[in-house]
Amino acid sequence: MAVSYKELGLVNTKEMFKKAFEGKFAVPAYNFNNMEQLQAIVTGCAESDSPFILQVSSGARKYANQTLLRYMAQGAAELLKELNPHLRFALHLDHGDTLELCKSCIDTGFSSVMIDGSHHSFEKNIELTRQVVEYAHERDVTVEGELGVLAGIEDDVVAAKSVYTQPDDVEKFVKETGVDSLAISIGTSHGANKFTPAQCTRNAEGVLVPPPLRFDILEEIEKRIPGFPIVLHGASSVMPEYVTMINSNGGALKDAVGIPAEQLRKAAASAVCKINIDSDGRLAMTGVIRKVFAEKPAEFDPRKYLGPARDALKAMIIAKNTEVLGSAGKGKLIFG
Ligand code: G3H
Ligand code: 13P
Ligand code: ZN
Repeated sequence: MAVSYKELGLVNTKEMFKKAFEGKFAVPAYNFNNMEQLQAIVTGCAESDSPFILQVSSGARKYANQTLLRYMAQGAAELLKELNPHLRFALHLDHGDTLELCKSCIDTGFSSVMIDGSHHSFEKNIELTRQVVEYAHERDVTVEGELGVLAGIEDDVVAAKSVYTQPDDVEKFVKETGVDSLAISIGTSHGANKFTPAQCTRNAEGVLVPPPLRFDILEEIEKRIPGFPIVLHGASSVMPEYVTMINSNGGALKDAVGIPAEQLRKAAASAVCKINIDSDGRLAMTGVIRKVFAEKPAEFDPRKYLGPARDALKAMIIAKNTEVLGSAGKGKLIFG
C-alpha cells in the first residue's frame, strides 16, 4: 500500500533549500546502506542541529531491501523526534534512472527523488525528467535533475571523462521540466579517485592538490537561473587521515584525491544548496574497521568494530556540518 512521506513525519527539500540559499550554507546529503551509517547520520545531525537529506541509491535499496529500508527511515524519524524534536529530514532517491524507480520510491515514503537523465540526449533528459516531475509534484515530492556528466561511477554507469554543464542549457531545462533543483558538473566526480596525480600539483608537504572547481561555470549558471538551488555531487574530500589509516592497516588505496574543504565552503556560500557525501563516510568506516582488525586480530564481535566505525562517521558528519557546509545550528532556523 502506498504511503506518503508526510505520514512518516518527513519533509521535502523546498524549505531547506530556500533557507540554505538565503543563508549561504548547504544542506548535507549523506548516503546510507546499513544501520550504523543511519545511526551516525541521525545522531550527528541531531547533535549539530543540522537539516539533512538521507540519501538512498538504487544499489542501497537492493542491498538493504526496499521494505526494510523504508521502515529504517521511519525509525530514523522517530529517533530524531527524541533527539531533536524540531528537526526534520528529507528521504531522497540518489541517481534514480527510470520513471518506475522514482514512482516506487515516492509510493513508499520518499519525500524527494533525483532523476538522473544526464547520460541521455538533452531532449530525452527533459522528457524523462518532466514525467517524473509530473508524478512527484502531484504528491508534493521534490525532484532533482542533472545536466552535465560527472566522471566516475554512478551505480552501474561509469563515465571516463566529465562533461561540464553547459550554462546555455540550464534555463530551458529548468523551465521545461519543472525540477526543484539541478545537479551540475563543474569538476567534481564520484568515488575516492577524483583526480589523477598528473592533474594535481604537490604542496610543500608533498600532498596532491587538485585543480580548482570551475566556479566560472557555476557563476554563469547562477546568472541564467537566479535563485535556483544547485546540487553538487561527488563532493567528498577524501580526507588523507582516513586514506592513511586504511593504507597503514593493510589497505591499498592508490592516488586517492578529493575536493578540498575550502572549495566546498566556497560552493556552500553560493547557489549550491545541497552537497552529496558518500565516499568520505565509507573511507572513515573502513579506516577504523581495518585499524581494529589490525590491532585486535582476535576480535570477532561485530559491535566492537562497527561501533567505533559508526563513532568515527558521526564525528566526521558533525565536523562537515560545522566546519564545511555551514549547516550546523540551522535546524532551528528552518523548523524551529
Ligand atoms: O553516486 C553514487 C553514490 O555514492 C551511491 O553509490 O550506487 O554504490 O550506492 P552506490
Ligand atoms: P562522493 O563519491 O564524492 O562521496 O559523492 C557522492 C555522491 O555524489 C552521491 O550521489
Ligand atoms: Zn552522485
